[in-house]
Amino acid sequence: MLFSLLIAPAAAEAALPPSNPGTPPMSDSPWSLLPAASANAEALDTLYIFFWILCGIAFVGMIGVQAYFMWKYKKPAEGHAKTSPLTHNGKLEFIWSAIPTFFFVILFAWGEIEFMKQATPPPDAMDVRVTGQKWSWTIEYPEVKGCSLTNDLYVPVGVPMRLTMTSMDVIHSFYLPAFRLKKDVVPGRYTVLWFEATKPGLYPLMCTEYCGDEHSSMVGRVHVVPQEEYSAVLAKACELKQGDAEPLEEFGARVVTRGGCASCHTTDGTVKTGPSFKGLFGKTETLSDGSTVTVDENYIRESILEPNAKIVSGFSPQMPSFAGRFDDKQIAALIAYIKAQK
Ligand code: CUA
Repeated sequence: MLFSLLIAPAAAEAALPPSNPGTPPMSDSPWSLLPAASANAEALDTLYIFFWILCGIAFVGMIGVQAYFMWKYKKPAEGHAKTSPLTHNGKLEFIWSAIPTFFFVILFAWGEIEFMKQATPPPDAMDVRVTGQKWSWTIEYPEVKGCSLTNDLYVPVGVPMRLTMTSMDVIHSFYLPAFRLKKDVVPGRYTVLWFEATKPGLYPLMCTEYCGDEHSSMVGRVHVVPQEEYSAVLAKACELKQGDAEPLEEFGARVVTRGGCASCHTTDGTVKTGPSFKGLFGKTETLSDGSTVTVDENYIRESILEPNAKIVSGFSPQMPSFAGRFDDKQIAALIAYIKAQK
């Protein structure tokens, strides 16, 4: 049992889809605090520490008084001590009610102010669109035409960003621990999150609403980069073109990564939400209506652009369309990649 607990983290890592490098660790050691990489995180941490100090003072005060009374009113060595008659002490009761009330009001007001700040994105915030689906995050940047990334959020330091989020299927929850932010992502409605990053670095992005089999692999990365590098870094991340010396199949592997395909399709024959790519090309599949189809270039292309047109028997129509997200060259590369998975 202990052994399996010890090896569990490594096993979980190995089980991650190969095209998703996973998420960076929350912090360097399990004992250290989470990194704080946004203005909101720093403000909330200050409030949280204030809360802990208050609790600490109250705890020490109460336990201290208890200990003192235990000592002071302990049973005397001989005979019974007479209990003094109990009356009330108005002044004392007022003090022990007023002091905590004063601090509760401070906590409420402080929390409310931070909450209001967090609930109201500044009007000049930069827009990003986030779509959750089983089991990846699609992140689109309106400022770069046609740029849609999977599981990678790029953020400049010191610029407010507004994420408008929705879901294609079930409720997910977008969680940025280093920014102390979390919000449900709900089908049929938009939810909004905003933040201003303060520290460059690589931070985790997670789904924190159980959304099905692969919920735990619905993870990503937040890349916080200096403002002056942001445009170049984002343009590079968005670019999806075959390199001069790059074989088509390797380019196809990059397209698979970009599309987040591996959250549903394996390359080792394991069946997940969709058929495995292993040995797929050339296979004859039986469709849900009983007819058969040979997996060729046309079928793969159709399945990428119109995934629900011909569903293989035993699978459910869950795949989003990639029409408008992948161009012809990218689709050709994807086909070459699938062909190579023998
Ligand atoms: Cu999406 Cu859990």
